[in-house]
Amino acid sequence: MMKLLTFIAGVSVVAALDNGLARTPPMGWLSWERFRCNLDCKNDPDNCISENLYMRMADIIAAEGYKDAGYQYVCVDDCWLAKSRDSNGRLQPDPDRFPHGMKALADYVHSKGLKFGIYEDVGSETCARYPGSRGHYQTDALTFAEWGIDLLKFDGCNIKPEDFAEGYSEMGFYLNKTGRPILYSCEWAIGDIMHGRKANYTAVMEICNTCRNAIDLNDQWESIVRIFNVYAKDVGNFSKIAGPGGWNDPDELVIGDFSLSPDQERTQMALWSMWAAPLLMSVDLRNIRPESKNLLLNKGLIAVNQDPLGVPGSVRMTIDQFSIWTRPVIPKGSVATVFFNQQTGGTPRNISVPMYLLVDGTASHYLITDTFTGSKLARLAYLQSLTVRVNPTGVAMVKMTPA
Ligand SMILES: *[C@@H]1O[C@H](CO)[C@@H](O)[C@H](O)[C@H]1NC(C)=O
Ligand SMILES: *[C@@H]1O[C@H](CO)[C@@H](O)[C@H](O)[C@H]1NC(C)=O
Ligand SMILES: *[C@@H]1O[C@H](CO)[C@@H](O)[C@H](O)[C@H]1NC(C)=O
Ligand SMILES: *[C@@H]1O[C@H](CO)[C@@H](O)[C@H](O)[C@H]1NC(C)=O
Repeated sequence: MMKLLTFIAGVSVVAALDNGLARTPPMGWLSWERFRCNLDCKNDPDNCISENLYMRMADIIAAEGYKDAGYQYVCVDDCWLAKSRDSNGRLQPDPDRFPHGMKALADYVHSKGLKFGIYEDVGSETCARYPGSRGHYQTDALTFAEWGIDLLKFDGCNIKPEDFAEGYSEMGFYLNKTGRPILYSCEWAIGDIMHGRKANYTAVMEICNTCRNAIDLNDQWESIVRIFNVYAKDVGNFSKIAGPGGWNDPDELVIGDFSLSPDQERTQMALWSMWAAPLLMSVDLRNIRPESKNLLLNKGLIAVNQDPLGVPGSVRMTIDQFSIWTRPVIPKGSVATVFFNQQTGGTPRNISVPMYLLVDGTASHYLITDTFTGSKLARLAYLQSLTVRVNPTGVAMVKMTPA
């Protein structure tokens, strides 16, 4: 019935996974980029992969404004597992680092009003060589449901690429059969790409709620640029396949870590918002810089990221080393725009673009607001030009609303 109605309305229908989850891009915290596979709880107890780390992050997310801003999932990554399954063939956490078990940790995270994500791998071992799920998909799905898991990041190491489709589909099937809604985050497309194969984004989005489509992001500007180029090229038209229920995933936010300048942090937040990407912070929230925290909590950018239309942005034009992106947002006829100054050196540069090249509608006037500050910048006629000033490797971001 739903399909028929949308067909009659002439809207193209993207077949997304229908488990009721990820109607907007998921937001949360994921340990990998910042804490990696730190096993040294003896000498580095506050930073090793342990229940303590996730409990402290859950405390801060709940108490210090992140939850209110929309961040919801507290997610474990690789290296949480014991080196072998238990005598019943079930997964078990490392007993020293997770002494109370994963159910207790999930309960703790839930007690803060948050959701709990876990990590496994479609292959025989995880990327860090802990037990993988291959051969145990049903058992592991049931185990995760019993523990109260809300999100599964399913990695793609240690499996033949020909088996990706079967492995990811089977796990999706068994997750569904548990009856517990579990957001399914897949590294299937990037797995194919890394093996020199073509990713089938349509197939991934039928099975998964999020689709990693670029190699792991590191805390380096070059890494952000590499992922930017993947999105700018949009090989295979992956941007067209995303929407409510299924989102492309360019990997974690490194805002607040060590390498990005303040402008580059703004650029990551703006691009991830334009792309309708999951917003997964990977930063030590115990000692984050106030400016980085404010950026992660920025209401204007989060509103673009979570826009209910769910249409990812695309490159509108590239002029003079400015990459200009637009994304349709509410209210009707409005457009979010990012002007990304790709020059790595020099001084701030101005860019002027006529309104009619930035919008698809034909309203006679548009109200321009700065997305970062919410302040009104101008009221421009359709034929007038918008001028913004942008720092090297930085962005300006505005919302244009028919006035
Ligand atoms: C399982 O799949 C069906 C059909 O797509 C869907 O309606 C249901 O919500 C799913 N349940 C879970 C728990 O994912
Ligand atoms: C991609 O997946 C879709 C959906 O499963 C399928 O219909 C299509 O044939 C696949 N395309 C290719 C090129 O394999
Ligand atoms: C992507 O879209 C463009 C135009 O929108 C089209 O020309 C091209 O064939 C598409 N490519 C794929 C792989 O679907
Ligand atoms: C550059 O743009 C800013 C902001 O729109 C404006 O205030 C300034 O006058 C412009 N400078 C030049 C040289 O055009």
